[in-house]
Amino acid sequence: MPDSADLPEQADRSALIGIVTVSDRASRGEYADRGGPAIVEYLGEVLASAWRPERRVIADDVETIVATLRELAAAGCSLVVTTGGTGPAPRDVTPEATVAVCDKLLPGFGELMRKVSLEKVPTAILSRQTAGILGECLIINLPGQPKAIAECLDAVFPAVPYCIDLIGGPPLETVTGRLVAFRPKK
Ligand code: MTE
Repeated sequence: MPDSADLPEQADRSALIGIVTVSDRASRGEYADRGGPAIVEYLGEVLASAWRPERRVIADDVETIVATLRELAAAGCSLVVTTGGTGPAPRDVTPEATVAVCDKLLPGFGELMRKVSLEKVPTAILSRQTAGILGECLIINLPGQPKAIAECLDAVFPAVPYCIDLIGGPPLETVTGRLVAFRPKK
């Protein structure tokens, strides 16, 4: 029997998922972050395959958001979900940071999330949320309201596993009784 130190390292095929709360007040500890835990809970409900969260709570500052998105993509995240900072207020700059780091934008994500959100709340039109690809990482913006997380992700998540396949990430499987991932037949 070889010593365990002689065995080749098992590649960890579980998906690393970045969860980024963008909020000046939560980052200063002025209130508890509710968006990050809501994303963790959502992914826990929907994903059947193994995944690991990598969480950050950061200020509404373009340079900080850019650095965090780049750091998480470089660390091997296949998916990064942000919450907050998508609105029209002066400090809302998450979409600008997302556009700045992405190689490709996926405007359909924002379009669909606004469409479904408008059925819930008229102010959904105020969110500039978008999505895009940075290297081998899909970045999706969500609004800061915790209830917006499931509302938005339920709409776009069926396309997320195939998108991650296309960019070379690990195969994500879903709990089919909760959400069915769509992969076109080859
Ligand atoms: N989308 C959903 N599904 N649910 C919501 O409650 N809130 C809206 C909008 N989108 C909301 C939503 C509001 S009030 C604002 S101001 C914008 O998201 C931007 O929110 P953010 O700046 O916290 O990202």
